[in-house]
Amino acid sequence: MPSLVAPYTELLDKTLGEYVVMANRHFGKLSDVWKHAALAEVLEREPPVRYAETHAGSGAYPIVRDGERQFGILRFLRVASGSEALARSRYRAVTDSWVNDRGLYPGSALLAMTVLGDASSYLLCDLDPGSAADLRRWASDLSLHSCEIAETDGMAAVAAWLEHDGGEPGLVHIDPFDPDARGPGGKSALELAAMVASSGTPLVYWYGYDQRSEQGWAYARLTAETWAPLWCGDVMVAGTSRETGDLGRATTPGTGFGVILANLQAGTVGACAALGHALAEAYAGALLPDGSRGSLIFTTRRSDAAE
Ligand SMILES: C[S@@+](CC[C@H](N)C(=O)[O-])C[C@H]1O[C@@H](n2cnc3c(N)ncnc32)[C@H](O)[C@@H]1O
Repeated sequence: MPSLVAPYTELLDKTLGEYVVMANRHFGKLSDVWKHAALAEVLEREPPVRYAETHAGSGAYPIVRDGERQFGILRFLRVASGSEALARSRYRAVTDSWVNDRGLYPGSALLAMTVLGDASSYLLCDLDPGSAADLRRWASDLSLHSCEIAETDGMAAVAAWLEHDGGEPGLVHIDPFDPDARGPGGKSALELAAMVASSGTPLVYWYGYDQRSEQGWAYARLTAETWAPLWCGDVMVAGTSRETGDLGRATTPGTGFGVILANLQAGTVGACAALGHALAEAYAGALLPDGSRGSLIFTTRRSDAAE
């Protein structure tokens, strides 16, 4: 299955004036736009008392103005005002202020901290020491009282967290580079996602692919592993280029990404579906970084009771 395992990359952190090593070099691309727009919508509509994330990444990333981000977050911010659904989305409000006022793109964990504030507790996992240190800095800057940063395997830590819920409603966000890789705890991201869905806990699961034939693949895999009703919103890049898809570049035709939701209310699922349709509409005929015309194909899948 497709994975986003990437070599660590050096980026100039302009805010600090020094080179830092970042484990996640895909921030702010179109794949983040869809993932984070849906996540922000879910957190806004059904704020959990406890939020857990298996692959949290860094808190914030200095914005990069290359072709991928021009098609991703920068284009999103330009076109969002022309779409009612995108304009009023929480994602737009949050990213507008982070990107335009501070020159930073907020990763999923900082997005959650921004939307939920100190009313929630957090378990944020990342194996990368640099990402964990950045998360700690943001948790401290935002004066969060209950934010645990775990520099450990996210699948094992979140599986343990799930068992000690204290009766408080939580939400799990799983965003793996590699859906089938097993951490030291022995569970893969997909297996953990099935476990979360089956437990009745709200779930946001991200997947990607780089072949047209793999559209919606994670939904097919997960529905075979759980009885919980699921909803899937899938965005695939389409265009005239004959290039094959490349998940590392989120703009090659045949590349796609999706979000699977479980244990959320019909209104929340409906709002995410509306966002996905609005995103595809706003990108109709958009220029891809290679200069050719492209578009987004948004499709949904659901188990009967999911909406
Ligand atoms: C795609 S990035 C996360 C992006 C972030 N969730 C967001 O949406 O902004 C994936 C991160 O997973 C981390 N990682 C990889 N394997 C892991 C594991 N088994 N447990 C925890 N973190 C892991 C990497 O260090 C990297 O920072």
